[in-house]
Amino acid sequence: MSRVAVIGPGRAGTLLASAFARAGHRVVAVGGGSQASRARLCEQVAGVRNEARPADAARRGELVLLCVPDDALEDVVTHLVLEEALGEGQRAVHFAGSQGLAPLRRARLAGARVAALHPAMTIPAGAHDPEVLVGAAWALTAAPDDVGWARQLIGDLGGDAHEVPDSARTLYHAGLVVGANAVGAVVSIARRLLLAARVDAPEAFLGPLVEASVANVLRDGAKALTGPVVRGDAGTVKAHLDELSRDLPELADPYRALAVIVLSQIRAGLDPGVADELTALLEEER
Ligand SMILES: NC(=O)c1ccc[n+]([C@@H]2O[C@H](COP(=O)([O-])OP(=O)(O)OC[C@H]3O[C@@H](n4cnc5c(N)ncnc54)[C@H](OP(=O)(O)O)[C@@H]3O)[C@@H](O)[C@H]2O)c1
Repeated sequence: MSRVAVIGPGRAGTLLASAFARAGHRVVAVGGGSQASRARLCEQVAGVRNEARPADAARRGELVLLCVPDDALEDVVTHLVLEEALGEGQRAVHFAGSQGLAPLRRARLAGARVAALHPAMTIPAGAHDPEVLVGAAWALTAAPDDVGWARQLIGDLGGDAHEVPDSARTLYHAGLVVGANAVGAVVSIARRLLLAARVDAPEAFLGPLVEASVANVLRDGAKALTGPVVRGDAGTVKAHLDELSRDLPELADPYRALAVIVLSQIRAGLDPGVADELTALLEEER
């Protein structure tokens, strides 16, 4: 079990501090961020030294958790190395989904072992319970010699490690962004439509429906999609568009764009004439 230092006591840093402590590691110091954020972390995890300067925290850790915003990572690593707070005998990890090993380069050159770890889980402000990480899939990017200990750390937190090559981290992250933020945006449009239809509990309709369609697509891919575009039902799509343009014009374009996306996924299975009819309808001048 390692002595852990947390740099960046925000959403991820605070939850990870609790998670590592619960897994039996000793969280010994927190640095960086505001005094208020550091104090909040120290209230949640016993025995943590509150250090304003990131370097003072990092040099206490055998394992340094870099939990600062993605854009600050490289500068923070450089600063810690120049302060001789990160190097030989230490391990440094960051948790930025879109980043591989590049921001850790200086730490590796200084002799530290490094890994880029990313839990595919959202950590909202105020998330206290490390249980949210249990069972989560984690992307693991590390040199072959570092995969073993990095995999062990993920296992300590109850996670499920999957190696992602350094060169594939941007695509990996794009996939998660589409899967989380874009799906959330689409559901928020569906919710607005149901509220406009005076449905008083949109969640009662959308919850089971969204869960079932997501589960089906996760299992079978695009062939699990259903609905008027998939059926080639241009009349229904036209009726939706006409009514949206009249009553909720701000949602007509998002509806059209989403129908284009559905069509792109299932076009090969549609009669070409029907596919052309739908394309013309969706591209019609507004
Ligand atoms: N939140 C999530 O859902 C989630 C999920 C997976 C991975 N991650 C990753 O976790 C990392 C942290 O994200 P987050 O959501 O926890 O962000 P956050 O809540 O904004 O926390 C960032 C923390 O770093 C501090 N900080 C900012 N710039 C700094 C600097 N230059 N030096 C030292 N400390 C600095 C902030 O200070 P203040 O206290 O003053 O704000 C704050 O405490 C990111 O790499 C992110 O991609 C986040």
